Amino acid sequence: MFQDFQACWTPILPSTALKAAPVASQLAGEKVVLFRDAQGVARALIDRCPHRGVELSIGSVKDGQLICPFHGWRFKGDGACAHVPYNPEAKLERLGATALPSHEAGGLIWVYTAPGAEAPELPHIPEALSRDDVSVFIHHEEWACHWTRAMENMLDYPHLPFVHGGTIGRDLKKQLTDRSQMEQRIEPLPHGFVSHTTIDGQPDARLDWMRPNGMTLYISDEGFFLRMHVWCVPTSPNHTRMVLAAVRGFGLYNPFFMLTDRFNLRILREDKAVVESSFPVEVPHPSEEPSVASDKTTLRFRQWYYSHLKGEGRAAS
Ligand code: FES
Ligand SMILES: [Fe+2]
Repeated sequence: MFQDFQACWTPILPSTALKAAPVASQLAGEKVVLFRDAQGVARALIDRCPHRGVELSIGSVKDGQLICPFHGWRFKGDGACAHVPYNPEAKLERLGATALPSHEAGGLIWVYTAPGAEAPELPHIPEALSRDDVSVFIHHEEWACHWTRAMENMLDYPHLPFVHGGTIGRDLKKQLTDRSQMEQRIEPLPHGFVSHTTIDGQPDARLDWMRPNGMTLYISDEGFFLRMHVWCVPTSPNHTRMVLAAVRGFGLYNPFFMLTDRFNLRILREDKAVVESSFPVEVPHPSEEPSVASDKTTLRFRQWYYSHLKGEGRAAS
């Protein structure tokens, strides 16, 4: 279950996507149902009724309990069975559905990919998403790619003048010469790492990797506050939900600045065709593709993936 993505916190959908009705989603190949309990807290269960395997997401929610559409069994947010119609003496404690730890913060619903377990800690929420003096634009869309290719794209700086030569990479494109040299310095963070990029000795950018599948791009700190966060969420095999949370601290009450939000989407989509064309679909082991010094940041992710998540990696770590 949750192959190659076990015991991870990830956003799954924006909070606004979950209202009164249950919502079906997929996460690392598993069907997951989200619903709100009686207190309005977002809950996640494996989307399979323990009775006859029906998808609970095609049922309904009443009084904060999820009701299976087939025989009407009712489940609480922790998966416990609360009622079995026609069977007042049923041993409910044997009849629960499978719950996943969940959390709601930063305008996102987070799920931990370990059925029935307690998550060891809460997910890392970028501080910009907790501020009340900013505008947050949240968007999600599906890409036909393996999440690891999308994640590496998000951590990849040298592609900017090529993929984004007409947008955020325009200046880099103008400055690029055959003698230009990029260096990357990586420092660990409790929740991942920070990568500082320097071009020809000039500091240019900071981006953070938020383990396992998120990044923060610090677009500029000079005069305005703008942060781009993206999570690459594995859904079904070789499909990824790109969850974007763009935060700006300017133009809060000026509709004109909603253009900034559209601009962020444009940048995201400039990456899509490149990522979806990558083969092999999943990032290969670091030894299997040639790499150069400016691949340092993406390679650091790739090494972590192979030593901590992929296949036997988790057992060995
Ligand atoms: S299949 Fe869900 S209650 Fe029977
Ligand atoms: Fe990009």
